[in-house]
Amino acid sequence: MSNIIIYGSHYGITKQYAQELSKKTNIEAISYKNVKGINNYDKIIYLGGLYAGGVLGMSKTLRELNNVANKNIIIATVGLSNPIDEINIKNIRNNIKSQISKEIYEKAKIFHLRGGIDYSKLNFIHKTMMKLLYNAVKNMPQEKLTAENKAIIETYNKKVDFVDFSSLDKIINEI
Ligand SMILES: Cc1cc2nc3c(=O)[nH]c(=O)nc-3n(C[C@H](O)[C@H](O)[C@H](O)COP(=O)(O)O)c2cc1C
Repeated sequence: MSNIIIYGSHYGITKQYAQELSKKTNIEAISYKNVKGINNYDKIIYLGGLYAGGVLGMSKTLRELNNVANKNIIIATVGLSNPIDEINIKNIRNNIKSQISKEIYEKAKIFHLRGGIDYSKLNFIHKTMMKLLYNAVKNMPQEKLTAENKAIIETYNKKVDFVDFSSLDKIINEI
């Protein structure tokens, strides 16, 4: 049986999780940009950074799968918002649903990890997007804020790191 860890990462945090998971499971980790022959793998573990609800590289990568009947698929998102918040989880999963086929969605085991952000490293487009998001939520009443809104307000223009490798344990158990 052959396994692969595939990651989509802009600023390296998801890559860190993928490399740690690789170390702990002895499964090779590779960027979605370099994946070849995805149909040759039985177990596919996809880790992707969240970008405006999208899981980086996921739909492009999983679209290549011809037959998922005998595949084992694990998807893990890495985002800034609190992945324990139930509404947040629901939102992330609804977004995932719209990015992959129904068949893959129903088959996949889905996990959520917390990443981080370093505003000094963001490219111009990402900085602009975060500024727009921040301006849209900064004056909203506290009781109306989602976990995602709160994360944006609390971390705006800062460097924060919520990486917790112990949160990989549940994925390792699933593998
Ligand atoms: C433009 C932009 C959009 C983002 N959108 C989301 C989001 O929708 N949900 C979330 O939880 N985090 C979001 N984030 C935070 C990233 O998911 C977080 O920084 C993650 O750790 C990035 O992983 P990477 O370093 O592997 O790319 C966003 C960050 C940027 C810069």
